[in-house]
Amino acid sequence: MKVIVTKNYDEMSAKAFEIMLGVVKANPRAVLGLATGSTPIGLYRNMVRDHKENGTSYREIRTVNLDEYAGLPADHAQSYAHFMRENLFDMLDIRKENTNIENGMASDAASECARYNALLDGMQQDVQVLGIGSNGHIAFNEPGTPFGSVTHVVELTESTIRDNSRLFDRIEDVPRSAFTMGLKNIMQAKKILILANGANKADAVYGLVKGEVTEKVPASVLQLHNDCVLICDEAAAARL
Ligand code: PGA
Repeated sequence: MKVIVTKNYDEMSAKAFEIMLGVVKANPRAVLGLATGSTPIGLYRNMVRDHKENGTSYREIRTVNLDEYAGLPADHAQSYAHFMRENLFDMLDIRKENTNIENGMASDAASECARYNALLDGMQQDVQVLGIGSNGHIAFNEPGTPFGSVTHVVELTESTIRDNSRLFDRIEDVPRSAFTMGLKNIMQAKKILILANGANKADAVYGLVKGEVTEKVPASVLQLHNDCVLICDEAAAARL
């Protein structure tokens, strides 16, 4: 794993953008695996600014997102589909039909997972962006998720519900379950770009880079990937 330590969040985002731009320039039809959460927002801002200033085109770019809450429609303000439009897609020239995310409203969860797995089988990510949870989760793959997992429905842990409740009016409004790509779907990406900032991620970053490769720390599976780049700020790198 390549590790890049930056002074702060803005430098982390700028460095991540450099790598992302390289992928988009090398292949204007690239498949970008994208993530939600606070961490990648700076990367997305850089992509939007560059698109406006330099005209980098996303017209033929395709995307796959990691996860989506079960029970939230795509137009719900807290859905991840909405997050992606607000923070990225609406400001680029990307075509909506080229963006993919699980359907949180699917009435048959098993067939929705099968649909998404088939889609991913035919769309290897040229790069997969990831954040990391303070417990070492990636996407909604919580500790104990098998490394061989593919898209599935997870019951969210109390700690994840608490963490994510900051974006909802009331904790009772946070969905109890979600669709998520599995670890195997993530590992199929040609390149992984994992970002982390802040002291609350230091233990997880240690587990990702130096800890034992174990299903107890889902991110540790990335030690087995042959092109994984971690970009983190000094606070998140404190234990390396
Ligand atoms: P965050 O979430 O970017 O909001 O910190 C990361 C994660 O839980 O994967």
